[in-house]
Amino acid sequence: MDVRGLVRSLGVVGSVNGWRSLRDSCRRYRLDSRYLPSRGAGRARVPGTARDAEPVPGGGLIHFTRSTLRVRVAVGGAVFCGWDGADPEPSYGLGSGCPEADTRALLEPDKEGGWRIVSERVLVVVTTHGAVEIRTPGGVLLRRDLPPRWWDAEDAPTGEADREGTAESVGSRWVLRSELAADAALFGLGGRAAGPRLPQGSYRLWNTDPGGSFGPQDDPLYITMPVQTVVSDSGCHLVFHDCTWDGRLMLRDGVVGAGSGHDHPAWCELRMDGGPLRYWVLVGTPARLLQGWTGLTGQPALPPRWALGHQHSRWGFGNADEVRRVVAGYRVRGLPLSALHLDIDHYDGHRIFTVDRENFPDLPGLAARLREDGVRTVSIVDPAAKAEPGWEVYDSGTRVGAFCRDARGRTARGTVWPGAAVFPDFTSPDTRKWWSGLYAERLAQGFAGVWHDMNEPTSFQAWGDPSLPRSTRHALEGRGGDHREAHNVYALLMARAGYEGLLELRPDQRPFLFSRSGWAGMQRYGGTWSGDVATEWEGLRASLALVVGLGLCGVPYSGPDVGGFSGRPSPELYLRWFQLGAYLPFFRTHSAIGAGQREPWEFGPEVLGHARSALESRERLMPYLYTLAHEARRTGAPYVRPLWWNEPGDRDLRGVGDAFLLGDALLVAPVLDPGVVRRPVRLPAGRWYDRDTGEVFEGPGRVTVDAPLRRIPVLARAGSVVPVAGPEDEVELEVWAPEQGRTGGGVLLTDAGDGWEDPVEERFTVRWEGDRVVVGREGCAEAGYGVRVRGVGE
Ligand code: GLC
Repeated sequence: MDVRGLVRSLGVVGSVNGWRSLRDSCRRYRLDSRYLPSRGAGRARVPGTARDAEPVPGGGLIHFTRSTLRVRVAVGGAVFCGWDGADPEPSYGLGSGCPEADTRALLEPDKEGGWRIVSERVLVVVTTHGAVEIRTPGGVLLRRDLPPRWWDAEDAPTGEADREGTAESVGSRWVLRSELAADAALFGLGGRAAGPRLPQGSYRLWNTDPGGSFGPQDDPLYITMPVQTVVSDSGCHLVFHDCTWDGRLMLRDGVVGAGSGHDHPAWCELRMDGGPLRYWVLVGTPARLLQGWTGLTGQPALPPRWALGHQHSRWGFGNADEVRRVVAGYRVRGLPLSALHLDIDHYDGHRIFTVDRENFPDLPGLAARLREDGVRTVSIVDPAAKAEPGWEVYDSGTRVGAFCRDARGRTARGTVWPGAAVFPDFTSPDTRKWWSGLYAERLAQGFAGVWHDMNEPTSFQAWGDPSLPRSTRHALEGRGGDHREAHNVYALLMARAGYEGLLELRPDQRPFLFSRSGWAGMQRYGGTWSGDVATEWEGLRASLALVVGLGLCGVPYSGPDVGGFSGRPSPELYLRWFQLGAYLPFFRTHSAIGAGQREPWEFGPEVLGHARSALESRERLMPYLYTLAHEARRTGAPYVRPLWWNEPGDRDLRGVGDAFLLGDALLVAPVLDPGVVRRPVRLPAGRWYDRDTGEVFEGPGRVTVDAPLRRIPVLARAGSVVPVAGPEDEVELEVWAPEQGRTGGGVLLTDAGDGWEDPVEERFTVRWEGDRVVVGREGCAEAGYGVRVRGVGE
């Protein structure tokens, strides 16, 4: 039995819910063992030998004795491989369906036997036994997938027999082992605390609330994705196994030039419990991979401009007076605050879409007054609804058949904050429509955005997986299926319903939504945050790993609970977290009930002073951050990038987990350990300036940088143009001198801060004219903005 689960169920969630969760775990055991098939050992099936191949637009169908492989290159260069008749659709990952085939891609016989599909960006070689090689157009090997193995489901499980006439697939388990270059480094798989470069080990693909709070050793967490970004000297590629089922990726590092001087390849092995064996591969530079990935799965939603400002939250404000006190605390100290978040304690008895009127008697009035001070309110939204006949949300959901059913056909129940609860089935279009409408109540309460939580979905269990029984039924868009297939996309589809609801209810504003759980493609609807990160130095490190890793999975907008979720941070830890948070896209202080406060003035005058500088730096960077938000939408490039982003060939940069690039211009080196006031930084190539002191550093290589308590090191790339906010909030250009004989540049994207107008784009150039650095704007001689050149004679 999982002790942590039991302790949590009996302790944290209160004894009544604790006993309920014990009962739920027993019920889950009964249902799943009766209605799910047992995993017969059986013999594995392999594809056999290639018999023949037929060309199809974009590639070909290769027929083996016991399977068929479809290879299809899409316009833009993404390659689809589908075994056993798997097609690209239906897919919850793809943004707007399957892209068109690139009809220039050709199927040809391979010299070695087997077949090859030749396209502009990728060469795919399929051997006679069903290995699939992904090569650069020049033939360099990036990945070799060995022939897959399937364990075909035997008999339909007892409970499934009556479900004739549905398109439901029982699914085979499958395994796919891939060899990678010896020097390959793997990133991604969703939000992983151990990253950003994933150490060898085993990674489960099942969205999970770790319970309590988590650190680097906890895996999996809330967002898992079968998305791998692989970086090696021979090139980079991204693979997306479009399968929502539970699975596990085993990863083993390679050995470069081992003993005999020969390399041993790295490898990974993906084992899935069911679902189609199909995948997409993209090849190219990191920027190209993210462009291709978001082209396939959808552009990241653009947050409204205010969502890049500082936001404050706490589980347990308790009442409107405390909210007013906190907001006034920011105001009287002159600290910027963009939004205030209300957690579940503002609900009436933990019922979603309600308000505790005793403690928050006039929420719309409160929201309007805060808004006058420039502070928006954001509401938590959990999926689980209290199972309470007579309450509108429960009744209306029941009327439209919105809630998941168990394998016997009864409404599935679980236990969450309100006690016995039911779970909307977001895989049903009707349920999504009903759910979308519920956001009208949140808007009427004055909320400007929503925060989706507990949507793995979490249902407290005394032991085992803290979610619904796997045999729970789901509509899956009418195909029918169970929780094994629907679990990982539950939050993705909740986000879809929330986003579409907000858009319909308030069409002139961009929805602001972030979600704890999600899956491939979640960026279409919004961002995410770290979840319940442990209040310790290791938690601080893990929170950076999550942001970088998620960015490489196409989710550019995220950030941690600044200060940590669980206990009370030391003033130093709080400050270092705050300083890092100020350079991450989503900058929010948040904490658990009983974990104390996270207001910057709660940690003494020294911390307050330094937190104020961090807030001022954030405000100053707003034009740059907003430009990055637009760029993320346009190109998929995350705001926060690993140091190897422009130099994937620099092996030393691949393992760096304690610094990151913020856009192209800045390198941020946070302090992640106690007592540190100077730290080593591994620099990418080129000249870098300390943004604070102007000190010059030359990369590539390792340098030591000052990191006094008052600031974390932020370096600017020579030649960059950083648009910043001047004293009157006007845009100014902070220009960093290029190296002699070199040029530089930058971009500024502006719009009204919300709405759907295309942004105005201005591009700047930087060059030397004698001993002067001159800044111009594309199409004009002058920059058109106030310019401050730095790095010359400092
Ligand atoms: C979950 C969330 C956390 C929230 C709490 C209460 O633990 O991750 O952010 O404060 O629930 O709603």
